[in-house]
Amino acid sequence: MKTANTIKEVRAIVKEWRASGLSVGLVPTMGFLHEGHASLIKRAHEENDRVVVSDFVNPTQFGPNEDLESYPRDFDRDCKLCEEMGADLVFHPDPSEMYHDQHTYVTIDTLSETLCGVTRPIHFRGVCTVVSKLFNIVTPDRAYFGEKDAQQLAIIRKMVLDLNFDIEIVGCPIIREEDGLAKSSRNTYLSAEERKAALCLSRAVKKGQEVISAGCDSSVVLDSMKDIINAEPLAKIDYVSVVDALDMQPVEKIEKDVLVAMAVYIGKTRLIDNFSYKIK
Ligand code: PAF
Repeated sequence: MKTANTIKEVRAIVKEWRASGLSVGLVPTMGFLHEGHASLIKRAHEENDRVVVSDFVNPTQFGPNEDLESYPRDFDRDCKLCEEMGADLVFHPDPSEMYHDQHTYVTIDTLSETLCGVTRPIHFRGVCTVVSKLFNIVTPDRAYFGEKDAQQLAIIRKMVLDLNFDIEIVGCPIIREEDGLAKSSRNTYLSAEERKAALCLSRAVKKGQEVISAGCDSSVVLDSMKDIINAEPLAKIDYVSVVDALDMQPVEKIEKDVLVAMAVYIGKTRLIDNFSYKIK
């Protein structure tokens, strides 16, 4: 497995692969990899001749009071996991390699204005910008994203459609700890007490799935989930919402495919979780 810090190196390596007729999968990450990322890399390895993992804590998707500085980083450990999962190249640029005097950004309306976009107003502009840059640098055939970041996945699918990127977007299922907590690099921020409290998210997901399957409207689904979270003293709801699976706009009657998504503060740590519900 190779590592590269510059765009030039990545382009040269991908050019050689292309010349040999090889297909390329990209797994964009912010590092501090866990089993969720491992599942994306494994899938990319199964479906492509070569796999590139980008490992870059992208400054433009963090708001002024967010955790850019403290975001966990461990490049050596990341490289070991990438190699084990079958990656061929890890792209680990400095922020100055990705951004110098950037005046061009990719924004997406409507889909970015609900859910996480309300408390994180510049987040998806940063995500769309860095993902577009990575798409242009790596020129993959396929790119892999986790369904835990369901709004991000919907936004990237729409961006690819709207901007005519010739890239297949592959969504991969949420990977959970044995007790149900969705894997996240931010779980490392949790104290032992908060780690237990964080289980209210996956419990709320389970409850929501039961209630929605019984044919209830959104308000009933949401109340049942909020009751579970509000019963946990360390938890504070940012949002719990039922939205249209494609445009991320709130839905009252569940007559089409929806995403039920939440963000909850456990102490100072903001965690997200979700489930999708498809109309039969
Ligand atoms: O999901 C993430 O880790 C990031 O938002 C991404 C897609 C790597 C862009 O920085």
